[in-house]
Amino acid sequence: HLVCCRALAGVITRAARKQLPRTSAAPMHSSDDGVGSSVPESRAAMEQRYLEKAEHFMGSHGDAQDGDDDDDYDDSYAEQEGRPYVPPASVSDGSKPCFATNIEKHFVVPARLQDKPYELIEAANDWHYAMMNDHPRNEFYKAALARVVKPDSVVLEIGAGSGLLSIIAASLGAQTVVAIEANHHLANVAREIIRRNGYEGKIHIINKMSTEVTPAELEPFGTPTVLLSEILGTLLLGESALHYVMDARQRLTTPDCAVVPLRGTQFATLVDSADIASITSVKDWQGIDLSWFNSLQDTTSMVFTKQYGFRFSSCSYTELAPRLPVLPIDFSSDQVGVWRGEKRTHLQVQKAGTIHAILASWEVYAIGDSTDKPLVMATHPDATLNNFPRDMQWGQGLQLIEDMACEGGSPVPFQVSAGEWLT
Ligand SMILES: C[S@@+](CC[C@H](N)C(=O)[O-])C[C@H]1O[C@@H](n2cnc3c(N)ncnc32)[C@H](O)[C@@H]1O
Repeated sequence: HLVCCRALAGVITRAARKQLPRTSAAPMHSSDDGVGSSVPESRAAMEQRYLEKAEHFMGSHGDAQDGDDDDDYDDSYAEQEGRPYVPPASVSDGSKPCFATNIEKHFVVPARLQDKPYELIEAANDWHYAMMNDHPRNEFYKAALARVVKPDSVVLEIGAGSGLLSIIAASLGAQTVVAIEANHHLANVAREIIRRNGYEGKIHIINKMSTEVTPAELEPFGTPTVLLSEILGTLLLGESALHYVMDARQRLTTPDCAVVPLRGTQFATLVDSADIASITSVKDWQGIDLSWFNSLQDTTSMVFTKQYGFRFSSCSYTELAPRLPVLPIDFSSDQVGVWRGEKRTHLQVQKAGTIHAILASWEVYAIGDSTDKPLVMATHPDATLNNFPRDMQWGQGLQLIEDMACEGGSPVPFQVSAGEWLT
Protein backbone atom coordinates (compact mmCIF):
# COMPACT_ATOMS: atom_id res chain seq x y z
CA HIS A 1 0.00 0.00 0.00
CA LEU A 2 1.95 2.96 -1.17
CA VAL A 3 0.50 6.36 -1.81
CA CYS A 4 2.57 9.00 -3.48
CA CYS A 5 2.95 12.05 -1.28
CA ARG A 6 5.68 14.35 -2.48
CA ALA A 7 4.02 17.42 -1.05
CA LEU A 8 6.01 17.22 2.16
CA ALA A 9 9.42 15.67 1.67
CA GLY A 10 10.76 15.89 -1.82
CA VAL A 11 14.20 16.03 -3.30
CA ILE A 12 17.37 16.66 -1.35
CA THR A 13 20.46 17.87 -3.13
CA ARG A 14 23.85 19.00 -2.03
CA ALA A 15 23.96 22.78 -1.90
CA ALA A 16 26.59 24.95 -3.51
CA ARG A 17 28.39 25.96 -0.35
CA LYS A 18 29.64 29.33 -1.51
CA GLN A 19 26.13 30.61 -2.13
CA LEU A 20 24.79 29.71 1.28
CA PRO A 21 24.75 31.64 4.53
CA ARG A 22 27.51 30.67 6.92
CA THR A 23 25.30 30.59 9.98
CA SER A 24 24.47 27.29 11.58
CA ALA A 25 20.77 28.14 11.46
CA ALA A 26 18.65 26.63 8.71
CA PRO A 27 16.86 29.57 7.12
CA MET A 28 13.91 29.15 4.79
CA HIS A 29 14.33 30.52 1.29
CA SER A 30 12.03 30.82 -1.63
CA SER A 31 12.99 29.04 -4.79
CA ASP A 32 14.16 32.20 -6.51
CA ASP A 33 17.06 32.81 -4.13
CA GLY A 34 19.73 31.97 -6.66
CA VAL A 35 20.68 28.59 -5.22
CA GLY A 36 19.04 26.79 -8.10
CA SER A 37 21.35 28.38 -10.61
CA SER A 38 24.32 26.41 -9.31
CA VAL A 39 22.56 23.06 -9.63
CA PRO A 40 23.46 20.93 -12.66
CA GLU A 41 20.91 21.08 -15.43
CA SER A 42 19.47 17.57 -15.11
CA ARG A 43 18.95 17.89 -11.39
CA ALA A 44 17.48 21.37 -11.74
CA ALA A 45 15.03 19.97 -14.27
CA MET A 46 14.14 17.19 -11.90
CA GLU A 47 13.57 19.62 -9.06
CA GLN A 48 11.47 21.81 -11.30
CA ARG A 49 9.27 18.85 -12.17
CA TYR A 50 8.85 18.16 -8.46
CA LEU A 51 8.03 21.77 -7.66
CA GLU A 52 5.48 21.94 -10.45
CA LYS A 53 3.83 18.80 -9.15
CA ALA A 54 3.83 20.11 -5.58
CA GLU A 55 2.48 23.47 -6.73
CA HIS A 56 -0.30 21.79 -8.66
CA PHE A 57 -1.19 19.58 -5.70
CA MET A 58 -0.90 22.15 -2.93
CA GLY A 59 -2.44 24.94 -4.93
CA SER A 60 -5.56 22.96 -5.53
CA HIS A 61 -6.54 22.45 -1.90
CA GLY A 62 -3.65 23.37 0.31
CA ASP A 63 -3.67 20.35 2.56
CA ALA A 64 -1.07 17.65 2.37
CA GLN A 65 -2.47 14.24 1.75
CA ASP A 66 -2.51 11.40 4.19
CA GLY A 67 -0.82 8.32 2.75
CA ASP A 68 -2.87 5.92 4.80
CA ASP A 69 -4.86 3.93 2.32
CA ASP A 70 -6.37 1.40 4.66
CA ASP A 71 -9.56 -0.09 3.31
CA ASP A 72 -11.56 2.20 5.53
CA TYR A 73 -10.16 5.28 3.85
CA ASP A 74 -11.41 6.72 0.63
CA ASP A 75 -8.94 5.01 -1.70
CA SER A 76 -9.88 7.16 -4.65
CA TYR A 77 -8.87 10.28 -2.78
CA ALA A 78 -5.40 10.28 -4.28
CA GLU A 79 -6.93 10.69 -7.72
CA GLN A 80 -9.30 13.42 -6.67
CA GLU A 81 -6.91 16.31 -6.47
CA GLY A 82 -8.61 19.41 -5.21
CA ARG A 83 -10.95 17.60 -2.86
CA PRO A 84 -10.36 17.33 0.87
CA TYR A 85 -10.15 14.08 2.81
CA VAL A 86 -13.57 12.52 3.36
CA PRO A 87 -13.92 10.42 6.54
CA PRO A 88 -15.07 6.81 6.09
CA ALA A 89 -18.80 6.02 6.09
CA SER A 90 -19.71 9.69 5.89
CA VAL A 91 -21.54 9.18 2.63
CA SER A 92 -22.56 5.58 3.16
CA ASP A 93 -25.26 4.41 0.76
CA GLY A 94 -26.12 1.48 3.01
CA SER A 95 -24.65 -1.02 0.56
CA LYS A 96 -21.98 -2.17 3.02
CA PRO A 97 -23.40 -5.25 4.69
CA CYS A 98 -23.65 -5.87 8.37
CA PHE A 99 -20.66 -7.54 9.99
CA ALA A 100 -21.81 -11.19 9.87
CA THR A 101 -22.80 -11.17 6.19
CA ASN A 102 -19.44 -9.72 5.24
CA ILE A 103 -17.51 -12.53 6.93
CA GLU A 104 -16.93 -15.95 5.40
CA LYS A 105 -19.39 -18.50 6.74
CA HIS A 106 -16.85 -20.69 8.58
CA PHE A 107 -15.78 -17.84 10.92
CA VAL A 108 -17.53 -17.71 14.26
CA VAL A 109 -19.06 -14.28 14.81
CA PRO A 110 -20.17 -13.40 18.35
CA ALA A 111 -23.87 -12.60 18.57
CA ARG A 112 -23.11 -9.02 19.72
CA LEU A 113 -21.38 -8.32 16.37
CA GLN A 114 -23.72 -10.13 13.98
CA ASP A 115 -25.96 -7.21 13.02
CA LYS A 116 -23.54 -4.36 13.62
CA PRO A 117 -22.50 -2.32 10.55
CA TYR A 118 -19.27 -3.67 9.08
CA GLU A 119 -17.93 -0.15 8.58
CA LEU A 120 -18.38 0.66 12.25
CA ILE A 121 -16.58 -2.45 13.50
CA GLU A 122 -13.77 -1.75 11.06
CA ALA A 123 -13.36 1.91 12.10
CA ALA A 124 -13.57 1.12 15.82
CA ASN A 125 -11.01 -1.67 15.64
CA ASP A 126 -8.65 -0.07 13.13
CA TRP A 127 -8.19 3.24 14.89
CA HIS A 128 -10.67 4.37 17.52
CA TYR A 129 -9.48 2.12 20.36
CA ALA A 130 -5.88 3.28 19.95
CA MET A 131 -7.00 6.91 19.66
CA MET A 132 -9.07 6.81 22.84
CA ASN A 133 -6.30 5.02 24.73
CA ASP A 134 -3.71 7.66 23.86
CA HIS A 135 -4.13 9.11 27.35
CA PRO A 136 -1.57 11.94 26.88
CA ARG A 137 -3.65 12.97 23.84
CA ASN A 138 -6.80 13.12 25.98
CA GLU A 139 -4.90 15.03 28.67
CA PHE A 140 -3.64 17.54 26.10
CA TYR A 141 -7.21 18.23 25.01
CA LYS A 142 -8.52 18.37 28.58
CA ALA A 143 -5.82 20.87 29.62
CA ALA A 144 -6.34 22.90 26.43
CA LEU A 145 -10.11 23.02 26.91
CA ALA A 146 -9.74 23.91 30.59
CA ARG A 147 -7.96 27.10 29.48
CA VAL A 148 -10.75 28.30 27.20
CA VAL A 149 -14.05 26.78 28.33
CA LYS A 150 -16.17 29.19 30.41
CA PRO A 151 -19.67 28.69 31.87
CA ASP A 152 -21.19 30.54 28.90
CA SER A 153 -19.11 28.72 26.25
CA VAL A 154 -20.80 27.11 23.29
CA VAL A 155 -18.36 24.46 22.05
CA LEU A 156 -18.47 23.16 18.48
CA GLU A 157 -16.58 19.94 17.82
CA ILE A 158 -15.72 18.79 14.31
CA GLY A 159 -15.57 14.97 14.33
CA ALA A 160 -17.12 13.66 17.55
CA GLY A 161 -16.08 10.00 17.06
CA SER A 162 -16.91 8.28 20.35
CA GLY A 163 -17.93 11.63 21.88
CA LEU A 164 -14.95 11.64 24.25
CA LEU A 165 -13.66 15.18 23.63
CA SER A 166 -17.17 16.65 23.68
CA ILE A 167 -17.80 14.95 27.03
CA ILE A 168 -14.55 16.45 28.33
CA ALA A 169 -15.71 19.91 27.19
CA ALA A 170 -19.10 19.43 28.84
CA SER A 171 -17.50 18.14 32.05
CA LEU A 172 -15.41 21.32 32.20
CA GLY A 173 -18.61 23.33 32.47
CA ALA A 174 -19.40 24.47 28.92
CA GLN A 175 -22.94 25.74 28.56
CA THR A 176 -23.60 23.62 25.46
CA VAL A 177 -21.58 21.35 23.18
CA VAL A 178 -22.53 20.66 19.58
CA ALA A 179 -20.62 17.72 18.10
CA ILE A 180 -20.61 17.13 14.36
CA GLU A 181 -19.87 13.59 13.18
CA ALA A 182 -20.01 12.59 9.54
CA ASN A 183 -20.03 8.83 10.07
CA HIS A 184 -23.65 7.98 10.88
CA HIS A 185 -22.79 4.76 12.73
CA LEU A 186 -20.33 6.62 14.96
CA ALA A 187 -22.83 9.44 15.48
CA ASN A 188 -25.19 6.86 17.02
CA VAL A 189 -22.40 5.38 19.13
CA ALA A 190 -21.47 8.87 20.39
CA ARG A 191 -25.12 9.51 21.32
CA GLU A 192 -25.14 6.30 23.37
CA ILE A 193 -21.84 7.05 25.14
CA ILE A 194 -23.04 10.59 25.88
CA ARG A 195 -26.30 9.22 27.29
CA ARG A 196 -24.46 6.66 29.43
CA ASN A 197 -22.34 9.45 30.89
CA GLY A 198 -25.36 11.61 31.66
CA TYR A 199 -24.68 14.41 29.17
CA GLU A 200 -27.60 13.98 26.77
CA GLY A 201 -29.07 17.39 27.65
CA LYS A 202 -25.74 19.14 27.22
CA ILE A 203 -24.19 17.60 24.10
CA HIS A 204 -26.01 17.56 20.77
CA ILE A 205 -24.81 15.39 17.91
CA ILE A 206 -25.31 16.49 14.31
CA ASN A 207 -24.73 13.68 11.83
CA LYS A 208 -23.29 15.52 8.84
CA MET A 209 -20.07 16.64 7.26
CA SER A 210 -19.12 19.87 9.02
CA THR A 211 -19.15 21.64 5.67
CA GLU A 212 -22.83 20.83 5.33
CA VAL A 213 -23.92 22.21 8.70
CA THR A 214 -25.59 25.62 8.40
CA PRO A 215 -25.59 28.51 10.91
CA ALA A 216 -29.38 28.10 11.12
CA GLU A 217 -28.95 24.55 12.50
CA LEU A 218 -26.75 25.91 15.28
CA GLU A 219 -29.09 28.78 16.15
CA PRO A 220 -30.95 26.92 18.93
CA PHE A 221 -27.62 26.37 20.75
CA GLY A 222 -26.07 29.82 20.27
CA THR A 223 -23.08 30.82 18.15
CA PRO A 224 -20.06 28.64 19.05
CA THR A 225 -17.31 30.41 21.01
CA VAL A 226 -14.93 27.43 21.11
CA LEU A 227 -13.98 25.37 18.04
CA LEU A 228 -12.63 21.94 18.91
CA SER A 229 -11.30 19.25 16.58
CA GLU A 230 -9.05 16.23 16.48
CA ILE A 231 -8.95 15.47 12.79
CA LEU A 232 -5.16 15.22 12.55
CA GLY A 233 -3.56 12.56 10.37
CA THR A 234 -0.15 10.91 10.33
CA LEU A 235 0.72 14.08 8.43
CA LEU A 236 -0.53 17.18 10.23
CA LEU A 237 -2.99 18.14 7.49
CA GLY A 238 -3.50 14.61 6.21
CA GLU A 239 -7.19 14.62 7.15
CA SER A 240 -7.72 18.17 5.86
CA ALA A 241 -7.87 19.73 9.34
CA LEU A 242 -7.15 23.22 8.06
CA HIS A 243 -9.84 22.90 5.39
CA TYR A 244 -12.56 21.93 7.87
CA VAL A 245 -11.46 24.22 10.70
CA MET A 246 -11.25 27.20 8.34
CA ASP A 247 -14.70 26.48 6.94
CA ALA A 248 -16.26 26.24 10.42
CA ARG A 249 -14.39 29.33 11.62
CA GLN A 250 -15.63 31.37 8.69
CA ARG A 251 -19.27 30.25 8.71
CA LEU A 252 -20.27 28.83 12.06
CA THR A 253 -18.45 30.44 14.99
CA THR A 254 -17.97 33.85 16.57
CA PRO A 255 -15.13 35.75 14.86
CA ASP A 256 -12.94 35.60 17.97
CA CYS A 257 -13.71 31.99 18.91
CA ALA A 258 -11.05 29.98 20.74
CA VAL A 259 -9.60 27.26 18.50
CA VAL A 260 -8.31 23.95 19.93
CA PRO A 261 -5.68 23.05 18.88
CA LEU A 262 -4.57 26.56 18.05
CA ARG A 263 -1.47 25.97 15.98
CA GLY A 264 0.62 23.12 14.61
CA THR A 265 3.90 22.50 12.84
CA GLN A 266 4.84 19.74 10.43
CA PHE A 267 8.48 18.72 10.87
CA ALA A 268 10.91 16.78 8.70
CA THR A 269 14.02 15.07 10.04
CA LEU A 270 16.91 13.47 8.15
CA VAL A 271 17.53 10.05 9.63
CA ASP A 272 20.27 7.47 9.33
CA SER A 273 18.87 4.10 10.33
CA ALA A 274 20.32 0.67 9.64
CA ASP A 275 16.98 -0.77 10.76
CA ILE A 276 15.14 1.16 8.03
CA ALA A 277 17.78 0.13 5.49
CA SER A 278 17.30 -3.51 6.52
CA ILE A 279 13.65 -3.52 5.46
CA THR A 280 13.93 -1.29 2.41
CA SER A 281 17.13 -2.50 0.67
CA VAL A 282 19.32 -5.57 0.43
CA LYS A 283 23.04 -6.36 -0.03
CA ASP A 284 24.01 -10.02 0.01
CA TRP A 285 23.58 -13.20 1.96
CA GLN A 286 26.30 -15.86 2.34
CA GLY A 287 28.12 -14.69 -0.77
CA ILE A 288 24.97 -14.36 -2.87
CA ASP A 289 24.85 -10.86 -4.35
CA LEU A 290 21.29 -9.58 -4.10
CA SER A 291 22.04 -5.90 -4.58
CA TRP A 292 20.47 -5.68 -8.05
CA PHE A 293 17.14 -6.05 -6.28
CA ASN A 294 17.67 -2.47 -5.07
CA SER A 295 16.79 -1.25 -8.57
CA LEU A 296 13.20 -1.71 -7.35
CA GLN A 297 13.57 0.48 -4.26
CA ASP A 298 10.77 3.10 -4.06
CA THR A 299 12.18 6.48 -3.07
CA THR A 300 9.13 8.28 -4.44
CA SER A 301 6.30 7.35 -2.09
CA MET A 302 5.83 8.40 1.49
CA VAL A 303 4.96 5.36 3.59
CA PHE A 304 3.55 5.49 7.09
CA THR A 305 5.38 3.53 9.77
CA LYS A 306 2.16 1.73 10.72
CA GLN A 307 1.92 0.51 7.11
CA TYR A 308 5.41 -0.94 7.38
CA GLY A 309 4.12 -2.54 10.56
CA PHE A 310 6.64 -1.27 13.06
CA ARG A 311 7.13 1.51 15.58
CA PHE A 312 9.83 3.87 14.42
CA SER A 313 10.42 4.77 18.07
CA SER A 314 11.64 1.20 18.64
CA CYS A 315 14.22 1.37 15.78
CA SER A 316 17.81 2.40 16.11
CA TYR A 317 18.30 5.69 14.27
CA THR A 318 20.40 8.85 14.28
CA GLU A 319 19.12 12.31 13.44
CA LEU A 320 21.73 13.82 11.12
CA ALA A 321 20.44 17.38 11.41
CA PRO A 322 18.07 19.19 13.76
CA ARG A 323 14.38 18.51 13.21
CA LEU A 324 13.24 21.02 10.63
CA PRO A 325 9.91 22.89 10.85
CA VAL A 326 8.61 22.78 7.28
CA LEU A 327 4.98 23.80 7.63
CA PRO A 328 3.72 26.02 10.47
CA ILE A 329 -0.07 26.31 10.61
CA ASP A 330 -2.25 28.67 12.63
CA PHE A 331 -5.67 27.01 12.81
CA SER A 332 -7.23 30.26 14.05
CA SER A 333 -6.28 32.37 11.05
CA ASP A 334 -4.60 30.50 8.18
CA GLN A 335 -6.40 29.91 4.91
CA VAL A 336 -6.28 26.71 2.86
CA GLY A 337 -3.46 27.06 0.37
CA VAL A 338 -1.28 29.05 2.77
CA TRP A 339 1.62 26.77 1.84
CA ARG A 340 2.14 26.40 -1.86
CA GLY A 341 5.06 24.02 -1.86
CA GLU A 342 7.59 26.52 -3.14
CA LYS A 343 9.65 26.91 -0.02
CA ARG A 344 13.18 25.66 -0.39
CA THR A 345 15.04 24.97 2.79
CA HIS A 346 18.74 24.93 3.49
CA LEU A 347 20.04 22.94 6.37
CA GLN A 348 23.43 21.97 7.65
CA VAL A 349 24.24 18.36 8.45
CA GLN A 350 25.43 17.95 12.02
CA LYS A 351 26.63 14.34 11.89
CA ALA A 352 28.21 12.30 9.11
CA GLY A 353 26.18 9.34 7.90
CA THR A 354 23.74 8.08 5.29
CA ILE A 355 20.38 9.79 4.92
CA HIS A 356 18.19 6.73 4.61
CA ALA A 357 14.93 8.65 4.96
CA ILE A 358 13.09 11.82 5.83
CA LEU A 359 10.92 11.30 8.86
CA ALA A 360 7.70 13.33 8.99
CA SER A 361 6.25 14.12 12.41
CA TRP A 362 4.32 17.03 13.89
CA GLU A 363 3.49 19.08 16.95
CA VAL A 364 0.25 20.84 17.82
CA TYR A 365 -0.07 23.58 20.41
CA ALA A 366 -2.79 25.03 22.57
CA ILE A 367 -2.97 28.18 24.63
CA GLY A 368 -0.65 27.91 27.60
CA ASP A 369 -1.26 28.82 31.20
CA SER A 370 -0.42 32.10 32.95
CA THR A 371 3.29 31.49 32.38
CA ASP A 372 2.42 31.54 28.67
CA LYS A 373 3.92 28.13 28.05
CA PRO A 374 1.94 26.52 25.25
CA LEU A 375 0.64 23.00 25.68
CA VAL A 376 2.23 20.65 23.17
CA MET A 377 1.28 17.28 21.70
CA ALA A 378 3.71 15.63 19.27
CA THR A 379 4.25 12.58 17.10
CA HIS A 380 8.05 12.71 17.14
CA PRO A 381 9.51 9.27 17.95
CA ASP A 382 10.76 10.52 21.31
CA ALA A 383 7.17 11.56 22.10
CA THR A 384 5.68 8.20 21.08
CA LEU A 385 8.37 5.99 22.65
CA ASN A 386 6.28 5.27 25.74
CA ASN A 387 2.97 5.72 23.98
CA PHE A 388 2.10 2.57 22.06
CA PRO A 389 -1.41 3.75 21.06
CA ARG A 390 0.00 6.96 19.53
CA ASP A 391 2.41 4.99 17.38
CA MET A 392 -0.40 2.73 16.27
CA GLN A 393 -2.90 5.44 15.37
CA TRP A 394 -0.55 8.14 14.01
CA GLY A 395 3.06 7.00 13.94
CA GLN A 396 5.17 8.93 11.44
CA GLY A 397 5.68 9.25 7.70
CA LEU A 398 8.86 7.99 6.07
CA GLN A 399 10.21 8.87 2.67
CA LEU A 400 13.28 6.95 1.54
CA ILE A 401 16.09 9.00 0.07
CA GLU A 402 18.69 8.26 -2.60
CA ASP A 403 21.38 10.43 -4.10
CA MET A 404 19.53 11.69 -7.16
CA ALA A 405 22.71 13.17 -8.58
CA CYS A 406 23.96 9.62 -9.29
CA GLU A 407 21.60 8.22 -11.90
CA GLY A 408 22.00 4.51 -12.53
CA GLY A 409 20.40 1.10 -12.36
CA SER A 410 20.31 1.10 -8.57
CA PRO A 411 19.82 3.85 -6.01
CA VAL A 412 23.02 5.31 -4.60
CA PRO A 413 22.96 5.92 -0.82
CA PHE A 414 22.99 9.60 0.08
CA GLN A 415 26.07 9.90 2.25
CA VAL A 416 26.77 13.20 3.97
CA SER A 417 29.53 14.67 6.04
CA ALA A 418 29.21 16.88 9.13
CA GLY A 419 28.94 20.55 8.25
CA GLU A 420 27.70 19.88 4.70
CA TRP A 421 24.85 22.10 3.52
CA LEU A 422 21.84 20.55 1.83
CA THR A 423 19.00 22.19 0.00
C1 LIG B 1 -9.65 11.18 14.64
S1 LIG B 1 -11.34 10.91 14.99
C2 LIG B 1 -11.53 11.78 16.52
C3 LIG B 1 -12.70 11.30 17.31
C4 LIG B 1 -12.89 11.99 18.67
N1 LIG B 1 -13.06 13.42 18.52
C5 LIG B 1 -11.72 11.73 19.57
O1 LIG B 1 -10.87 12.61 19.67
O2 LIG B 1 -11.61 10.65 20.14
C6 LIG B 1 -12.05 11.97 13.80
C7 LIG B 1 -13.54 11.80 13.63
O3 LIG B 1 -13.99 12.93 12.91
C8 LIG B 1 -14.89 12.57 11.89
N2 LIG B 1 -14.72 13.64 10.88
C9 LIG B 1 -13.56 13.98 10.23
N3 LIG B 1 -13.74 15.08 9.48
C10 LIG B 1 -15.04 15.46 9.66
C11 LIG B 1 -15.83 16.53 9.14
N4 LIG B 1 -15.30 17.44 8.33
N5 LIG B 1 -17.12 16.61 9.51
C12 LIG B 1 -17.66 15.69 10.35
N6 LIG B 1 -16.96 14.65 10.88
C13 LIG B 1 -15.66 14.54 10.54
C14 LIG B 1 -14.46 11.17 11.48
O4 LIG B 1 -15.56 10.44 10.97
C15 LIG B 1 -13.96 10.61 12.81
O5 LIG B 1 -15.00 9.95 13.50
